[in-house]
Amino acid sequence: MTEPLLEARDLVKRYGSVEALRGASFTVRQGEVVALVGDNGAGKSTLVKCLSGVEQPDSGQILVSGRPVTLDSPAAARAHGIETAYQDLAVAPDLDPAANLFLGREIRRPGLLGRLGMLDKAKMRTRAAEQFAKFGVSLQDLSVPIGSLSGGQRQSVAVARSVAWADKLVFMDEPTAALGVVQRKRVLDVIRRVRDTGISVVLISHNMPEVLSVSDRVEVLRLGRFSAAEATLEDLVGAMTGALSQEDAS
Ligand SMILES: Nc1ncnc2c1ncn2[C@@H]1O[C@H](COP(=O)(O)OP(=O)(O)OP(=O)(O)O)[C@@H](O)[C@H]1O
Ligand SMILES: [Mg+2]
Repeated sequence: MTEPLLEARDLVKRYGSVEALRGASFTVRQGEVVALVGDNGAGKSTLVKCLSGVEQPDSGQILVSGRPVTLDSPAAARAHGIETAYQDLAVAPDLDPAANLFLGREIRRPGLLGRLGMLDKAKMRTRAAEQFAKFGVSLQDLSVPIGSLSGGQRQSVAVARSVAWADKLVFMDEPTAALGVVQRKRVLDVIRRVRDTGISVVLISHNMPEVLSVSDRVEVLRLGRFSAAEATLEDLVGAMTGALSQEDAS
C-alpha cells in the first residue's frame, strides 16, 4: 500500500490561449487531507475537474493506486471511488434535496414497479434526511426544489452528496465559501470524520486558518504549477493574513 491513491503527473490543460495547468504534478495518499491553495485563477478548479473526469487534460498522466487511468467522464472517476463537490455547484435546481442526493443512484421501488423504473421516493427521502442529519445539514423542508434554497444550503447539500458516496477520495472545491460560521464548522468536522474512515480529502479553500486546522499537508498552486519550494508556515501565514484582510474587506 505504498502507491499513492491518486497521482497526477505533468498535467497540462489549455483553454484557448490560456494555460490553466502548465505541468502540474500532484499526489494524494490514502486517508490524508490535502489542502490545495493558490490565488484566484491559479488552476485549482481546473486540476479538480481533470482529476474528477469533467475535463480532459491536453497532456500528462493520471494514476489511481499506481495504475494509469483515463478519466473521461465523472462516472469514470466515480468508478474509482472519487467524488467531487464542485465549486460551481453541480446540483439539479428543479429537484428536491433528496433527489439531488440520489441523482444517478436512485432507489427503485421493490418488485415489478421498480423494474418498470418506479422510484422509491419515500425511502430516498428517509435516507436523505438521515444523511443530512449526520452531516449537520439543516433543511426545514426536504420537498422544495433545491433552486429555491439559500446558497449555503445548496452548498451543504453538495458536500453531503459527495461525502455520502465517496469510497476513496473526495474533492471539495471551496466547500465552505458560502457558509456561515456554524455550517463552516460542521463541514470541517465532516472532513475530519471522512478522513477518520480512511477516505482522503482534497480541500480547496482560500481560508488559511481553516486550511491549517484541518489539513495534514498543504500544496500551493501558482500559475498552473505547484511551487517546488516547500511552503513554510510563515509563507502560509503571510498568504493567510493577505487572504483574510481581502476577505474581510469584501
Ligand atoms: N472553461 C474555461 N474556459 C476558459 N478559461 C477557463 C475555463 N476554466 C478556467 N479557465 C481559466 O483557467 C485559469 C484557471 O482557472 P481555475 O478556475 O482553475 O482557477 P482557480 O484556481 O480555481 O481560481 P479560484 O480560486 O478563483 O476558484 C484561469 O485563468 C481561468 O480563466
Ligand atoms: Mg476555483
